Amino acid sequence: MRLSLRFIIPLVLALGAIAYGVAPLVDDLTLKWFVRDLDIRTKLITSAVQEPLAAAITDDLSPRIRQQRLEAVFGRLVQDERLFAIGYCDAAGKFAYRTVTLPRDIACRPPGQPAEEGRVHTFAGGSLHVAANPLSVEGMRLGELVIVHDMSFIERRSADTKKYIVYLFTGIGAVIALITVVIAELSWRGWMAGMKALIRGQLLADFSGPRSRELGPIARDLEALVRDLEAERRMRDESQMSWVPETLRTILREDLKGDEILIVSNREPYSHVRQGDRIEVQRPASGLVTALEPVMRACSGTWIAHGAGNADREVVDAGDRLRVPPESPSYTLRRVWLGKEEEAGYYDGFANEGLWPLCHIAHTRPVFRAGDWEHYRAVNRRFAETVVAESRTPNPIVLVQDYHFALLPRMIRERLPEATIIAFWHIPWPNPEAFGVCPWRKELLEGLLGSSILGFHTQFHCNNFFDTVDRYLEARVDRETFTISCGGEPTEVHRYPISIEWPLQGLDTLPPVPECRRQVREELGLAPDVRLGVGVDRLDYTKGILERFAAIERLLEIEPRWIGHISFLQIAAPSRSSIDEYQSLDARVRAAAQRINSRFAAPGCQPIVLKVEHHDAERVYRHYRAADFCFVSSLHDGMNLVAKEFVATREDERGVLILSQFAGAARELPEALIVNPYDTEQCAAAVRDALTMPPEEQRARMRSMRALLQEFNVYRWAGRMLLDAARNRNRRRLSRTSRPFASAALGP
Ligand code: F6P
Repeated sequence: MRLSLRFIIPLVLALGAIAYGVAPLVDDLTLKWFVRDLDIRTKLITSAVQEPLAAAITDDLSPRIRQQRLEAVFGRLVQDERLFAIGYCDAAGKFAYRTVTLPRDIACRPPGQPAEEGRVHTFAGGSLHVAANPLSVEGMRLGELVIVHDMSFIERRSADTKKYIVYLFTGIGAVIALITVVIAELSWRGWMAGMKALIRGQLLADFSGPRSRELGPIARDLEALVRDLEAERRMRDESQMSWVPETLRTILREDLKGDEILIVSNREPYSHVRQGDRIEVQRPASGLVTALEPVMRACSGTWIAHGAGNADREVVDAGDRLRVPPESPSYTLRRVWLGKEEEAGYYDGFANEGLWPLCHIAHTRPVFRAGDWEHYRAVNRRFAETVVAESRTPNPIVLVQDYHFALLPRMIRERLPEATIIAFWHIPWPNPEAFGVCPWRKELLEGLLGSSILGFHTQFHCNNFFDTVDRYLEARVDRETFTISCGGEPTEVHRYPISIEWPLQGLDTLPPVPECRRQVREELGLAPDVRLGVGVDRLDYTKGILERFAAIERLLEIEPRWIGHISFLQIAAPSRSSIDEYQSLDARVRAAAQRINSRFAAPGCQPIVLKVEHHDAERVYRHYRAADFCFVSSLHDGMNLVAKEFVATREDERGVLILSQFAGAARELPEALIVNPYDTEQCAAAVRDALTMPPEEQRARMRSMRALLQEFNVYRWAGRMLLDAARNRNRRRLSRTSRPFASAALGP
C-alpha cells in the first residue's frame, strides 16, 4: 500500500499540474477561434442586411417611413439570441439607428478612418465582440454597421472545456498510475529481494546458485562494481597507510575485532640446541621465518611448528609451549614433535624430494614414494589436530605456510568450518604439465582449496595454479574474481609478494657501514685493493651457487686483470643434509670453489671464500654491508629475501645487486643487474659491471630499490592478507545471517 501511494501521489500531482498548466492554453486558443468565427459571422450579417438597408436609406421616403423600414430590418436581426446589440452609423459618422442594448461607450468611427477587425470589449457584465463593417452600394458609402455579439457563451464553453481537460487528464492519470503500480509492485519485490541478497553478499559468495533471469546481468554488473570499489579502496588504503607493526595491530583490533591468529609452519622461528652443558637459541636460515617473525611479534597469537632442535623439549611447558622471542616474549610457540621416520617421510621425502623439485624448475627429478605420502598425510593430520586444540574460538584466522602443508587447509576446514584459512605457498607453482607428474596431484589441489585465501608471490604463479586446477579438478575457476569453487566455500587466489621488515631488526645496533667493511675485510684478510662480492643462501641446488662460481671463474678467464682483485664470499647454510641431492651439491660446490681457487689464487686474495656454516642474522648483515656487490643467482625462486635484505642493510646507498631473472624479487627490483644464471657470459659481464659501476649510479639504483622496500615491506604483505581475511569473514558472516538469495528472488 505504501508503495502504491509512493507512486500514485506524485503521479496525480504531476498530472494535476499538467492539467492546470494546459487549461489556460486551451482557453486562449478556443477564444481566438471563436473571435475569428464571430468576425466571419458579422461579415455575413453585414452582407445579408446590405441590400434591404441600402433600399431603406436610398429610397425617397418620408423620415417616419424610413425609420420604420430601418427598425424592420434591424428588428429581425436582433432576434438572434447571440446578437447583443446593433447600431447603424450613417455616412456622416453618427448613429442613425441603435438598439438600447448598445453600450454608450461604443461610438461611430469618424468618416475616412480605415476599417478594423472585430475587437473584444470588456465591461462589468462580461465580454462583448464589437465589429464595425462598412456598408456600400454600387461604390457609394452608406456608413457602417456596428454589430455587438454576446461572448458569454464562449466563456461558458471555455469553462466546460477546462472541466473536460481536467477530467481527461485525471482519467489518463488514474489509468497510468494503476498500470505503473501493478508493474512496480511486481518488479519491486524482485528488485528488493535481489538487492537484499546482494547486500548480504550472497551473490558475491556464490556464483553458482540460481538467480532470477532478469536480475542476473544487473547482479553481475553490481558485483563487478563492488569488486572494483573494493580493489580501489584496498589500493587507496594501502598506499595511504604507513606499514609498520602498529598498522598490523590496528588491523587486528579494528578490522578483525581482535580475532585469534594462529600460524602453522614446518620450520620454527626459534630452536633450542644443546652445546655441551649450555642450551643455545638459534634462528634458522629461512626466508619464511624471516618474514613471519616480525608479523607474529606485532600480532601475538600462537605459532605452531615442528620442534626440530635437539634441546627443544627441555624448554617447553607441559602443553609443549613457550613464549618467544627469548629477549622480549610477545607470542606463543607451540611445538609439535615428529618421530625420525615421520620426519624422513614427510619432510625429507615428500616435501623436499617430491614437492620441492616438482615446483622448482631446476632440473632435479622429483621423487614420489607412497610411504612418504602416507607420512605427509599423517603429519598434516597431526598439525590439523594441533590447530584445533590450540584455537580458543571456533573461527580463528589460521595462516598455513608453505608446501609442507598442502593438505592442512582442507583438514582444518573439516574440523573448524568457521575458520578463515589463509594458505601461503612460498615456492613457485609450476605449469600444469610439470605439476601433473605428481601421483597425488588431485589430493594436493583439493587440500589447498580448503583455504579461504590462497597466496603466491607472483601473478605468474597464481595463473599456473588456476591452469592446474582447471586441468585436473572438476572445479569452477573464475579468473575475473580470482576465485576457485570446488565444493563448499570458494577460495580466493591472490598475489602477495613477500618482503622484509623495514627497518631490519638489529640494524640499529650494527656498526656503521665503513666499520663493518673494515671488520669483515680484516677477518677475510683482504688487501685494500681487493673488491668483495657476497652470496648468502641455504646450500640448495635451486640457488644457483655453482652458476655463480662459474661466472666469477669466467670473468677471471676473460679479464685476468681482476685476478688478485676480486674475492667472492659464499655463505652457505647447511640444509636438508640427509637428502642425497643436497649432499652431492655440497660436494660439488666445495669442489668448484677449490678448482677456481687453485686456478686463480693470488697472495692475500682467494677468488672464492666458501663458508658452509650457519651465520646468524647480525653476522650476515655485516657481510652485506661490507660487500661491493651481492650475487643472487637462483635458478628458480618464489621470491628470495636475500636480495631484499642486502638492499635494506645498505644505508650508505652503495653496493650493487646482481639478481636472477628467475627469482620473484626480480619483478620488484628491476634496478638490480638482472641476469640469466644459465648464461655464464652474461653473468660474468654483470660482475664486471658491478665492479666498475660509478658511485652515483650505485646510489641511484640503491635509492630506488630502498624506497620500494620501505613501502612494500613485510607488514604490508601480512596486512594485505589480514585485510582480505577481514573482508572474507565479513562476507561469510553476512551470507550466513541472511536469507539465501535464490528463494528471495523467486518468492511471492
Ligand atoms: O623457500 C621455501 C622455504 O620454506 C623458505 O621459506 C625457507 O627459506 C626454506 O624453504 C626453508 O627450508 P627448510 O625449512 O627446509 O630449511
